[in-house]
Amino acid sequence: MGCFRSFLLFCFAWSFLLLGTHQLQSSHTQVLLQLRKHLEYPKQLEIWNNHSLDFCWISSFGQVNITCLDNLVIELRIKGDKIKQSKGSGYFNGFPIQSQTLSDSFSLDSFVTTLSRLNSLRVLSLVSLGIWGQLPDKIHRLSSLEHLDLSSNFLFGSIPPRISAMAMLQTFKIDENFLNDTIPDWFDSLSNLTTLSLRNNKLEGKLQDLSSLSSLQVLDLSRNKLNSVLPPMPKGLVMLSVSENSFSGKIPVKYGKLSGLQHIDMSHNALIGTPPAAVFSLPNIGYLNLGSNLLSGSLSGNLICGSKLNFIDISNNSLTGKLPSCLRNESEERVVKFGGNCLSIGMQNQHEQAHCTEVISLKKKESGGNNVGILVGVILGLVVLSVLLVFGFIIFCRRYCLRGTSEQHLLHKSVQENSAVGFSTELLTSARFISQDGKVGIQGLPVCRTFSLEELTEATKNFNSSAFLGEGSYGKLYKGRLYNGTQVAIRCLPLSKKYTIRNVKLRLDLLSKLRHQHLVCLLGHCLDGGGQDDYSPNKVYLVSEYVPNGTFRAHLSGNSPGKVLNWSERLAILVSVAKAVHFLHTGLIPGFFCNRLKTNNILLDEHGMAKLSDYGLSILAEETNKSTAKDGLTSGQMTSLEDDAYSFGYILLEALVGSSMSSRREVILQNNMASLNSQDGRKQIVEPAILATCSQESLSIVISIMNKCICPESSRPSFEDILWNLQYAVQVQEETADGDQKI
Ligand SMILES: *[C@@H]1O[C@H](CO)[C@@H](O)[C@H](O)[C@H]1NC(C)=O
Ligand SMILES: *[C@@H]1O[C@H](CO)[C@@H](O)[C@H](O)[C@H]1NC(C)=O
Ligand SMILES: *[C@@H]1O[C@H](CO)[C@@H](O)[C@H](O)[C@H]1NC(C)=O
Ligand SMILES: *[C@@H]1O[C@H](CO)[C@@H](O)[C@H](O)[C@H]1NC(C)=O
Ligand SMILES: *[C@@H]1O[C@H](CO)[C@@H](O)[C@H](O)[C@H]1NC(C)=O
Ligand SMILES: *[C@@H]1O[C@H](CO)[C@@H](O)[C@H](O)[C@H]1NC(C)=O
Repeated sequence: MGCFRSFLLFCFAWSFLLLGTHQLQSSHTQVLLQLRKHLEYPKQLEIWNNHSLDFCWISSFGQVNITCLDNLVIELRIKGDKIKQSKGSGYFNGFPIQSQTLSDSFSLDSFVTTLSRLNSLRVLSLVSLGIWGQLPDKIHRLSSLEHLDLSSNFLFGSIPPRISAMAMLQTFKIDENFLNDTIPDWFDSLSNLTTLSLRNNKLEGKLQDLSSLSSLQVLDLSRNKLNSVLPPMPKGLVMLSVSENSFSGKIPVKYGKLSGLQHIDMSHNALIGTPPAAVFSLPNIGYLNLGSNLLSGSLSGNLICGSKLNFIDISNNSLTGKLPSCLRNESEERVVKFGGNCLSIGMQNQHEQAHCTEVISLKKKESGGNNVGILVGVILGLVVLSVLLVFGFIIFCRRYCLRGTSEQHLLHKSVQENSAVGFSTELLTSARFISQDGKVGIQGLPVCRTFSLEELTEATKNFNSSAFLGEGSYGKLYKGRLYNGTQVAIRCLPLSKKYTIRNVKLRLDLLSKLRHQHLVCLLGHCLDGGGQDDYSPNKVYLVSEYVPNGTFRAHLSGNSPGKVLNWSERLAILVSVAKAVHFLHTGLIPGFFCNRLKTNNILLDEHGMAKLSDYGLSILAEETNKSTAKDGLTSGQMTSLEDDAYSFGYILLEALVGSSMSSRREVILQNNMASLNSQDGRKQIVEPAILATCSQESLSIVISIMNKCICPESSRPSFEDILWNLQYAVQVQEETADGDQKI
């Protein structure tokens, strides 16, 4: 038995000797293969496909380096090609992004669990691999780690506290990620740390005293949101970058004693006071950037510059007085940037003296130097606020009281009468349905409901660009598919700040009452507070039925497949729209009068039936752009002229002359309106497709009502009038078609 055992032992030892000296321990090979799987087979690791190779001996192509010692991996460096595409700061919200991060099934936790089995690792660098998630505490199991670099990934949250136990750590680098907590206060336990680099994250709050990090040479915290004063720094520091944060207070005088410093970048912060002269004369300093702060005072004339100082930037501050002689270029090879101050050097790019004192006194007030200042500030603020309120109220009144029916009044009234459901029931009972057509076809329409943001995110694949339909005067429009397969259109509407949540809900309630067979059916809405408190929603998503067959405008411009619309078809569409608007004005109390009618908002369904979209939105939002200004009228003129009859007049015009002509509608208005009244004139500007299919009389009726709509005076016809005329034109057209006598 003993003999057998020793034989086994011998075999084992021998095989270990034989294989072990040449090959990576197989457990480590397995771990590497598993890591590759976790990383979703990046193409940089394709070289590992050949299992007959020893990973330690695969020559690197610059993107993958493995170093082994005693058949164990001690260094693993992988550089992927998952480059961040968007520079915007808010675009990553902790969820995977296609082709930028690893997929939804990636788990950083299990990745690190696998990784920690490479327990001999001393160097770990995983850059641009799309790794996303919150770095787990168990990373500390890599207890031999000396260099850690996880830059250009999608890590968020905090830096795990157990990293403080990784005593061997010399380099800790997590640049270009989304870390968004504070900088922990335990870094000083990492006494071997030489490089701490957390550039371009979203770290906030206070920076702790780092002076006990005796080995620290490089500290890069630039492009974060740190907002404390600058703390004491370790003696041996060589490179200090804290630019593009919100550091405040003075530059510590003690920095003038950090004799190792070669590179200092404190630009783009809110530092105040006069920079200590000693900082300029540090023995090793080569680069000193203090630009774009709130530094003030004047630099001493006999300031001494360090002999190695070859770049200095003090621009965009509030410095006064003379430029010290060593900062003038006379003798030395030295780049000096000093524009945007109030220096008295008789050169360009300097502000008036008053500018700088103003900035400083403003700053002092802001930081609230004394209580009297605060008191005066508060009183002034209150006065200004009440004046603004009064003005606001006047403007508010002007806006809403001018309208025929004031929905604002109703809303207020109902708030006072106050009952959770009072408004809607009251409104329902008082709502008058005038148009019979309004009632026909509204049965069977789904009831409005509230959608969750998740539901909409899913329906649009996270508001993917493939779902994006366009952007109109009221915000972005997306196409989506609900979980039950229904296709919907989702409009994202920035909300006007002046409404409270309650007011917004009342308005949505009102909007959801609008049911008509020629109105695009509103299916529901979703309020998005942007993560803030519920009382100030900043966006609302309106979900409505998706009308598949394109806009009236597209059909008029011939941009859509299918034949050119003939006169009867155009008339049918115009009648439908007029019915819808008539309903908006009168079908419900209070009426919806400002609907921004345009051919782009008239949609055709699969049966060619017209439905009006984006109606009534003016009670929710202000327009995001003045898309109509390009039509030749200044926006001021527009607002004074614009009402639904007026815009409908232009829809009639567009239906007659085509949408390409309508871009010149001002020209037509001035020159051709008269010619529309003569036979010859019509032949020139009315579309041939109409002339070939219309009866002259029918056309005349439409032109005459159009003239009334577009007239600059406010004696425009009501929609009842318009509708009556259009229906009359239809009738005339039908009679002549029956008699088969077209022009
Ligand atoms: C694997 O590597 C060996 C040794 O370099 C080589 O002979 C073999 O062709 C490679 N196999 C593949 C599939 O690349
Ligand atoms: C691999 O090593 C080479 C040579 O030292 C180096 O140029 C390259 O940057 C390294 N690759 C990674 C990903 O660190
Ligand atoms: C950090 O970012 C993540 C993902 O965006 C988020 O879920 C978390 O709330 C943020 N934490 C802090 C403290 O802001
Ligand atoms: C790291 O620090 C420890 C003490 O915390 C010390 O014993 C060790 O020698 C240091 N290692 C290096 C590489 O400096
Ligand atoms: C100073 O500010 C101006 C205007 O804000 C800017 O154009 C210029 O680039 C700034 N100079 C430096 C050195 O940042
Ligand atoms: C110093 O030189 C730089 C570039 O050579 C120039 O932009 C700057 O204006 C010069 N400063 C003075 C004070 O002449």
